[in-house]
Amino acid sequence: MTMRRIALVNQKGGVGKTTTAVNLGAALALAGRRVVLIDLDPQGNLSTHLDIEVPAGEPSTYRVLCEGMDFGDALCDTATPGLRVAPTNIDLSGAEMELSAAIGRESILNDAIDAWAATHEEKFGELPADYVIVDCPPSLGLLSVNGLVASREVFIALQTEFFALQGMSKLVEIVQLLQRRLQPKLAITGIIPCLYDSRLRLAREVLAEIRKYFPGPVFNRSIRKSIKLAEAPSYGESIFQYAPKSPGAGDYAELAAEVLAQEPGAAKPAEAVVEAPVAEAPAEAHDALVPEPSPEAAAPETKNAAPSDQPYTDEGTVTAPRRAAPRASELPPLPESAFRIVEP
Ligand SMILES: Nc1ncnc2c1ncn2[C@@H]1O[C@H](COP(=O)(O)OP(=O)(O)OP(=O)(O)O)[C@@H](O)[C@H]1O
Ligand SMILES: [Mg+2]
Repeated sequence: MTMRRIALVNQKGGVGKTTTAVNLGAALALAGRRVVLIDLDPQGNLSTHLDIEVPAGEPSTYRVLCEGMDFGDALCDTATPGLRVAPTNIDLSGAEMELSAAIGRESILNDAIDAWAATHEEKFGELPADYVIVDCPPSLGLLSVNGLVASREVFIALQTEFFALQGMSKLVEIVQLLQRRLQPKLAITGIIPCLYDSRLRLAREVLAEIRKYFPGPVFNRSIRKSIKLAEAPSYGESIFQYAPKSPGAGDYAELAAEVLAQEPGAAKPAEAVVEAPVAEAPAEAHDALVPEPSPEAAAPETKNAAPSDQPYTDEGTVTAPRRAAPRASELPPLPESAFRIVEP
């Protein structure tokens, strides 16, 4: 088993990167993998989500990037066995400025992880983790670039809404540029549709366009919108601690199974990857202001189905005409060389 190094990116904010880093990481740890999450966002959402507060000056990603601290010394345990975090705090907000004049500034995190892995391997005869997942901030600045160069794979989290695909060509261009200049092994190996509500026609259209647009693998499992996923951070818990039977836990467990199936030597998934069936909303439904479904009513075994058996209603919603989702065919094509299919 190698150490998979994955950056979770999207320069767009609030699309589900941190929620995915935490819950995919927790699911992989529950599946027996040794996982390290890196919080590269000065907002520190990932650290907070896992109930880790680091006072200023304490070991953190800031000290690794700006003060040369050993990466291993910045790691904290979490309540989930096998899940560790390189946390951050507000110190990191000045890091982009501080790093801007540093030599090799794009590769500092990569070099720190390489050194940590090499030392551990020398001492213990094995790599220190099976997965390193980097939660990047919503920008394409030096912090995200450090996250990308430190990784070998890129997962893009996308919110299944109108502007989902906007800005993707810029992100892919940066991945290609880094691939050419700094990290030849880097490639996009997974697209994760997040905050998905299959009752919304727009969300279904956007998901279909996402599948058409990317010349690389879009995971079969979309992460549905679920109130429990939104609540878990305020308890400092992963979804598997907070609501292990919720649809959100089911979605992240399924996503983790797909990620595990990419591992070298993993058994090929028995079923072909097919578009999961979605529950159709009534044709006349206008898709706005839909009440949050009761997660308990969900049927997690029906992939991507509406997380509720309740009939869809659109009482009280606006009935103004709606623009269709932007078509993949109208967007600038994405270069295939930025993508890689990871197969067992
Ligand atoms: N599947 C989901 N269902 C419901 N709420 C969700 C879901 N995924 C994320 N959220 C909520 O949406 C908000 C944004 O999610 P998150 O913080 O994961 O996005 P992000 O891409 O990391 O944001 P940022 O760009 O600010 O770092 C959070 O409040 C989170 O709790
Ligand atoms: Mg985030």
